[in-house]
Amino acid sequence: TIDRINIAIDGPAGAGKSTVARKVAAELSYVYVDTGAMYRAVTLLAQRNGIGPEQAADLHKLIEGLDLKLQPTSTGQKIMLHNEDVTELIRSREVTTQVSHYAANEYVRQKLGDMQRELASHKGIVMDGRDIGTHVLPDAELKIFLTASVKERARRRHQELNDSNYVPLEQLEAEIAARDKLDETREIAPLIQAEDAVFLDTSHMTIEEVVSYIVKLGQSKLMGVSE
Ligand code: CDP
Ligand code: CDP
Repeated sequence: TIDRINIAIDGPAGAGKSTVARKVAAELSYVYVDTGAMYRAVTLLAQRNGIGPEQAADLHKLIEGLDLKLQPTSTGQKIMLHNEDVTELIRSREVTTQVSHYAANEYVRQKLGDMQRELASHKGIVMDGRDIGTHVLPDAELKIFLTASVKERARRRHQELNDSNYVPLEQLEAEIAARDKLDETREIAPLIQAEDAVFLDTSHMTIEEVVSYIVKLGQSKLMGVSE
């Protein structure tokens, strides 16, 4: 019998994927994997090396020597890039506004996709991203497509800001919409709902409601597959 499943959560920026995935993982005693953080770490590394997203050959070389580790912590995960803790650094605006360009590169996607599949190989994983249900874990037992209106997603992200990283709401909304568009229209593994994913618009839902809904779906899958 199967006692653990993999849960894939995909959707656009600010839908609540990481907040919800972290809590679902905690409730089920599963491990949370934030794949967006991996694309962000590669972006930081490339920027530090002065490599632009269009420099495919240089990016390829950089990716071959990539040393990236995810360390689960009590509250989420720590991102180690060549043994440096970059968990906070990868949230910068510089990374956020450029990451979708780097994420469109085929070597980057191949390398990170392989790492993600390896991380999920023993099940008991809640993984969030853009292409988890469609490309990385097409066999995940439970797939969720989490979304909310772009206005609501921008509002949520705006609330997280403080004085030192303040951006006007309108600008944040435009940046989120631009990133969504890049992610949805790229050639390789674009952001799209998997056919067998459960669609969830969280515009009018609380975090707790979303979490308990997904946990219930997970528990019924567990009962289903272990029969
Ligand atoms: O948290 P937020 O929604 O702002 O973004 P994220 O999940 O950290 O992902 C950052 C970017 O990485 C996305 O906009 C995508 O361009 C890319 N990404 C991807 O291409 N595939 C994934 N599985 C995860 C992230
Ligand atoms: O990972 P993703 O970009 O999809 O979203 P996130 O980084 O989890 O950010 C979502 C933000 O909206 C967080 O500040 C949450 O507290 C908030 N939020 C939510 O996630 N879900 C709701 N139903 C309502 C608010």
